Parts: sequence; structure tokens; C-alpha cells
Amino acid sequence: MMLEIVAAVPGIVEEEVVHSYTEFLKKLGNSNIENFPAPAIAIDYWRLPKDFTLRDIAVVIKDDEAHHRDVNHFTSIRIHTTDDLDFLEMIDICPKY
Ligand SMILES: [Fe+2]
Repeated sequence: MMLEIVAAVPGIVEEEVVHSYTEFLKKLGNSNIENFPAPAIAIDYWRLPKDFTLRDIAVVIKDDEAHHRDVNHFTSIRIHTTDDLDFLEMIDICPKY
């Protein structure tokens, strides 16, 4: 039970992150928030085109967090429904000890 909760909690947090980025992107499109060029550190970290903007970066981060959310929820459900945990070795978010 504990292991599936360990996977579920980050999945729930990442759901909220995706929701927050979705709301931010709506505001960016409907308000006076400036869509300025993305900071160099963000472009370097995500290895993105140099002309990316704040909006582009927010979309990339939102998509990445959606992937994390899905992996964590999948992991939690899988742990809950099976005793075979060998699949955890294939998931890159699972810490190696
Ligand atoms: Fe994440």
C-alpha cells in the first residue's frame, strides 16, 4: 500500500502543475502578460530553439509534467493491481538504490 501512495502523490501534484500551466497559458493569451522571449537558461535546459517565448516554454513544461503525471498514475495503479514489481526497473522516475 505504501509504495503505490509514493507513486500516487507525485501524480496528484503533477496534475495540479498541469492545471496551473493550463490556466497560466489561458491568461497569457487573454491578458496583458507579456509573451517575452524565453530566458537563455530555459532554452539551454530544454534544448529548444533560440526564438522560443515564455508561452512556448510553458507548453513544453506542461507537456513534460503531463508525462510525469501519467507515469506516476500508471505506476500507482500497476502497483495496486499486481504483486510483480519488476516493471519498476523499466521506469526512469524510479530511484535506483
Ligand atoms: Fe514532474
